[in-house]
Amino acid sequence: RLLIIDFGSQVTQLIARRLRELNVYCEIHPFQKVTEEFLAEFSPKAVIFSGGPASVIDASSPRPPTSVFDLGIPILGICYGQQVMMQMLGGKVERGHGTAEFGRAFVTPEESDLLLLKGWFDSGREQVWMSHGDHVSEIAPGFKVFGTSPNAPYAITADTARNFYAVQFHPEVHHTPNGSKLYENFVRMAGFTGDWTMGAYKDEAIRKIREQVGDKKVICGLSGGVDSSVAAVLIHEAIGDQLTCVFVDHGLLRQGEAEEVVTMFRDHYNMPLIHADEQDLFLGELDGQFDPETKRKIIGRLFIDVFQKHAAEVGGAKFLAQGTLYPDVIESVSFSGGPSVTIKSHHNVGGLPEKMGLKLVEPLRELFKDEVRALGLELGLPDSFIGRHPFPGPGLAIRCPGEITREKLEILRKADAVFIDQIRKHGLYDEIWQAFVAILPVRTVGVMGDGRTYDFACALRAVTSVDGMTADYYPFSHEFLGETATRIINEVQGINRVTYDITSKPPGTIEWE
Ligand code: XMP
Repeated sequence: RLLIIDFGSQVTQLIARRLRELNVYCEIHPFQKVTEEFLAEFSPKAVIFSGGPASVIDASSPRPPTSVFDLGIPILGICYGQQVMMQMLGGKVERGHGTAEFGRAFVTPEESDLLLLKGWFDSGREQVWMSHGDHVSEIAPGFKVFGTSPNAPYAITADTARNFYAVQFHPEVHHTPNGSKLYENFVRMAGFTGDWTMGAYKDEAIRKIREQVGDKKVICGLSGGVDSSVAAVLIHEAIGDQLTCVFVDHGLLRQGEAEEVVTMFRDHYNMPLIHADEQDLFLGELDGQFDPETKRKIIGRLFIDVFQKHAAEVGGAKFLAQGTLYPDVIESVSFSGGPSVTIKSHHNVGGLPEKMGLKLVEPLRELFKDEVRALGLELGLPDSFIGRHPFPGPGLAIRCPGEITREKLEILRKADAVFIDQIRKHGLYDEIWQAFVAILPVRTVGVMGDGRTYDFACALRAVTSVDGMTADYYPFSHEFLGETATRIINEVQGINRVTYDITSKPPGTIEWE
């Protein structure tokens, strides 16, 4: 296995992801934990030093134990990791003075024949992503330069005799398009064949959950979404009935959703499940509210109250399980460190663990969405379930602009079901990132048969996206749109007009509120 020593970079997890993509098993451990004893015990086949925010010029900045250089294994230092390596092996690092570099740069080769660079520089230069204030001003004895950029004369250096490699840029990020190639070359040199699988990840995750939880009880909020479902099934596989799931039905779910979740988890998976039917409470408090943020806050607050009440029924639980993914962990911290503004206050259970005196179990914290899906398949969750579009915590409330009434929710559920049915029938479901109907707070006049109608208008929304941060409307054919509009108007009483929302994000958001 490969050890990544984390010096605090915001993109350390991306290194792990790149290695998992190469089917190499790795673990990330914070530098504080990596002592000489730890290294001896872990016995890595290769080590990567991550980047980090500190400056090696500060005497108190983080270091790996010197013994790491005596293990006789390949080491790759990235950004701060490169500087630490140079400093510890006898080179020099200086503070920026005009040499700080952030963003895109192009590296060109200095010497050829470095295994790490096999397949690189085929086009003469490579685009890389730089993000550093300090820079190496003198390389350590034994090192040679293999690549430079205008602002980084030591962009790629190596001591080939000892198998130490150091790069100033971040090969793990998207903006270093061929970065994976470097990792691939590095792990091949270290003797990894790439035979590690998601099945092995599952076994390891189960082992860790057992170790963390022991014989204590765990509660888990199950939303029916992919993340919480995969987390629940994984934890159930690890500790069986020590886990109880709480499924809160706030009355804002889609057609048939509550039954589907309860049947699947209680009947199929035999998991202890509390089905908290709290529709009256939520819809009661939402009555008369039309402001989007107020609605979200009411739902968020009630959700915590209700979850807490039902979780208490379990008695003696010591852990709260959450399906937090890696992007959730970094979501608010952008890579460039720029400020982020709250556009919508996402409803989550932040603060709940402290309030209830529970420790967190977050077995998906290292994974990205597509990896969670792969893990879900590994756990035997059905394909159709794993591939479901995301559904927001506040549910249909944010697809019902203006006042929420039971009548409107009922109409919305039916229209949404027809739309999704159409999308599935036309084989488009997997091409679309998210699709739904919003019911608009207007009634319009229509004519059906010989009579006048005065019913609600609705909007169809379907987008393509990678992560929900940006999105494009889906280019349905006119034929599809026409057919869908006809079906909705014919099959759903209460709607007499259908529109298609062709706004991208930005400037729009995906949801209507
Ligand atoms: P927006 O509307 O912000 O949505 O473009 C981006 C993605 O986030 C989902 N979303 C939410 N999810 N609580 C959630 O759990 C929320 O309050 C919330 N608001 C939006 C939305 O469905 C889309 O996938």
